[in-house]
Amino acid sequence: MPNESRRHFLKVIATAPMAAAAAGSLTRCDDNINPSPSVTVGEVDQAGQLKIAPSQIAELQQVGGSALLASSNFGTPILAFHQADGSLGTVSGLCTHVGCPLGYVPSHSYIECPCHGSRFNLNGQVLRAPAVAPLFHYTTRIEAQTGNWVINTKSSDDRFTGVMAGKIELQLQNIPELNSTGATLAYTPAGLNGPILIVHTDVNIFNVSDATCTYQPCIIDYDTVGKVLRCPCHNDTYDLATGRVTSTGPATVALKIYPVQYDSSSQILTITVSSSP
Ligand code: FES
Ligand code: FES
Repeated sequence: MPNESRRHFLKVIATAPMAAAAAGSLTRCDDNINPSPSVTVGEVDQAGQLKIAPSQIAELQQVGGSALLASSNFGTPILAFHQADGSLGTVSGLCTHVGCPLGYVPSHSYIECPCHGSRFNLNGQVLRAPAVAPLFHYTTRIEAQTGNWVINTKSSDDRFTGVMAGKIELQLQNIPELNSTGATLAYTPAGLNGPILIVHTDVNIFNVSDATCTYQPCIIDYDTVGKVLRCPCHNDTYDLATGRVTSTGPATVALKIYPVQYDSSSQILTITVSSSP
């Protein structure tokens, strides 16, 4: 039976102080944890689905096996793990602390980061710091006709709408995650290839950008003190209004910023992702 439970591909990014500053002083906690092996897979299709044949990935054939699935048109590797009930669990494969590839630990049914020991449950929720933000959690099912695993890389939460006629309209009264000033939220709308980051920068003022650093596939966050977008991996910063890199690198390419309009009476946030419908 397909596993169609409504798992949200949604990440509410914590607004705690950025963890990157502390990363340098942290040491690896558990020498026995290694990242899951990396495996190159096909492309994500237009519907946002990644199909994989279990027979073609040796690392996933046995219960307890895992792999970091790398697709040429999907920015972040997906950590896939073969669970005891035969289903495939899937979450984003890079740690939300400073972006290290993650390892699945079947003996304890959790996911652990080899770099500084962050730990996540199989839904991507943080079990142990220093990471504070959860992993993305993808819906996965088995295709009846082929027996292939189908990973849905898009949001399955109706509140988080996709692109229609070049725009995304979000009804913010249904999204309390964005209520407070400084709140941030990232998700991948249907119709886009990667996640966007929505920041409630000031009362009724929102900023929307791509959520993935232009240097490497790390998810950026909002620095409420400096009022810039910051990548936790190498600490690069981006200007909120223009997306321009405001630090010395390694990132050099500007982040894409999307025009937004917010109607405070209807509480609808409209994000323009393309000028031609
Ligand atoms: S990168 Fe630091 S705990 Fe994962
Ligand atoms: S990956 Fe973003 S600055 Fe290094």
